[in-house]
Amino acid sequence: MTPNMSWSLDGSEFDGKKVEHFHRALGRYNRSRLQPSLPYVDSDDDATRECQARRAEIAYINAVREEINVSPKDVPRQADAYVEWFESLREHGPGQGDPLFPWLEHSCDLEQMKWFLEQEVSGEAGFDDLVALTQVKMPLCAKLEMARNYWDEMGRGSPKGMHGPMLENLARHLELNSKPRRVVHEAVALGNAMIALAQNRCFAFHSVGALGAIEMTAPTRAGHVARGLKRLGVPAAKLHYFALHAVLDVKHATAWNREVLHTLVAEDPRRAHPIAEGALIRLWHGQRCFIRYRSEFKFDRDNRASARRQLCASLA
Ligand SMILES: [Fe+2]
Ligand SMILES: [Fe+2]
Repeated sequence: MTPNMSWSLDGSEFDGKKVEHFHRALGRYNRSRLQPSLPYVDSDDDATRECQARRAEIAYINAVREEINVSPKDVPRQADAYVEWFESLREHGPGQGDPLFPWLEHSCDLEQMKWFLEQEVSGEAGFDDLVALTQVKMPLCAKLEMARNYWDEMGRGSPKGMHGPMLENLARHLELNSKPRRVVHEAVALGNAMIALAQNRCFAFHSVGALGAIEMTAPTRAGHVARGLKRLGVPAAKLHYFALHAVLDVKHATAWNREVLHTLVAEDPRRAHPIAEGALIRLWHGQRCFIRYRSEFKFDRDNRASARRQLCASLA
């Protein structure tokens, strides 16, 4: 079956049925696309599908680049200044400080936490594989840091320490069943965007920026989620994925910014802009997820009502 993965270059269409249809088709294709397979007879069809998917995802990413509209003039080209600028995204990038996460820590119920995790797990494109795809033919210093990061993802050679299975362990414990219809298309889009960046070499530096943005912004969110899971009675051994990333990704981000970003930009300042765009593409998709999750939880309405109740109580 050939999924309809065409993307209109009219970049104004980031909401509605058309974009949902696009991301669900591409998301379905992506689930099988990277699986190792044996040779088979309809490999010509496979090549046609792959060509269609590549064209569609490149057009999509270019439309998002237009939407986020970062000019090369907005981004420093000197390596020290560049890393400083990049690090400011931790506080000021799209979606940072979203009220969803304190709410998950302090207020949501178990069903709401499970719904949130289903979105996150299904949108997870596999950080380890994304790093592996991105590091191909990278300059030595950047490649070495990506290798160290990948080795941590692999539990430094121990299956028990591998990050992917740790998340699967939590998903099994909570009996998360990620049926495609339950996953909002913004979460599917996030995974699709990460795969598009990592496997199209014209976006290799965008992928470097997107992965760096994850390392840098994940610890705060992971800390909120870990404390929320603990409040909801999830055993420490099962919430280890989030507890670990709240700490380890601080170190990963420092090393990524120094060993990958700094060296790549110092070697060729033209890379500064695509790396910045990649980080913002990742954060832009994340922000759209948080807004959608809050609307699903009727979060803003309920929180406004509870703020009003608090105000009335304090005035009484
Ligand atoms: Fe990880
Ligand atoms: Fe990490």
